[in-house]
Amino acid sequence: MNEKVHILDHPLLQHKVTILRDENTGVNQFRKVVAEIATLECYEATRNLPLEDVAVTTPVAPGTFKKLAGKKLAIIPILRAGLGMVDGILELIPSAKVGHIGMARNEETHEPEEYYCKLPPEIQQRDVFILDPMLATGGSACATISYLKKIGCTKIKMLNIIAAPEGVKRVNEEHPDVEIYIAALDEKLNENAYIVPGLGDAGDRIFGTL
Ligand code: PRP
Ligand code: URA
Repeated sequence: MNEKVHILDHPLLQHKVTILRDENTGVNQFRKVVAEIATLECYEATRNLPLEDVAVTTPVAPGTFKKLAGKKLAIIPILRAGLGMVDGILELIPSAKVGHIGMARNEETHEPEEYYCKLPPEIQQRDVFILDPMLATGGSACATISYLKKIGCTKIKMLNIIAAPEGVKRVNEEHPDVEIYIAALDEKLNENAYIVPGLGDAGDRIFGTL
């Protein structure tokens, strides 16, 4: 695992991930907590955003202060489950642009299949945050990152909630420049490529399609 992997072990995050893991947590609470975790992860993932000087006059005196520089950030949820993290990010960055990439894992091969893509304009010049609660084999993440790089994106970060070591390793090997923010690194994948202990199928739990 390289220094690009950030395991965010803040007590609030650990507590909230435990709520998601609990099989008795219902859809309503699951959705809310996914969004809350995304907000907390976003705070960390935006730590190095570029700033520029701006002249502002307060009611007391003029001064030079900081504001975010450059084009608006783009968040790209991987459909479906990544959608659950969007509102949590927009809480902190309400003017972020939102793109969508649809990836579904083939249930037999576990390989991702792309079915939708719509991205904001000038995506190449933006900081891009890929959102997906689960990083399992890393197939969906790597396919998404490869596509974004192919069209010219260079400033890519990924925010997941739970990751398996296999997925982290694959992203590290294929895309060593991409920083990954996760709230929990779990033990392994099972024979169905589900994360153990994990939280089950994130999309099904967010959308109530169990
Ligand atoms: C889940 C999850 C990730 C992917 C992770 O989505 O949200 O996108 O699996 O697995 P991987 O790392 O092995 O690619 P899924 O394909 O189940 O689709 P869904 O979000 O529509 O439920
Ligand atoms: N996708 C999920 O939603 N959960 C897993 O454990 C693995 C992939």
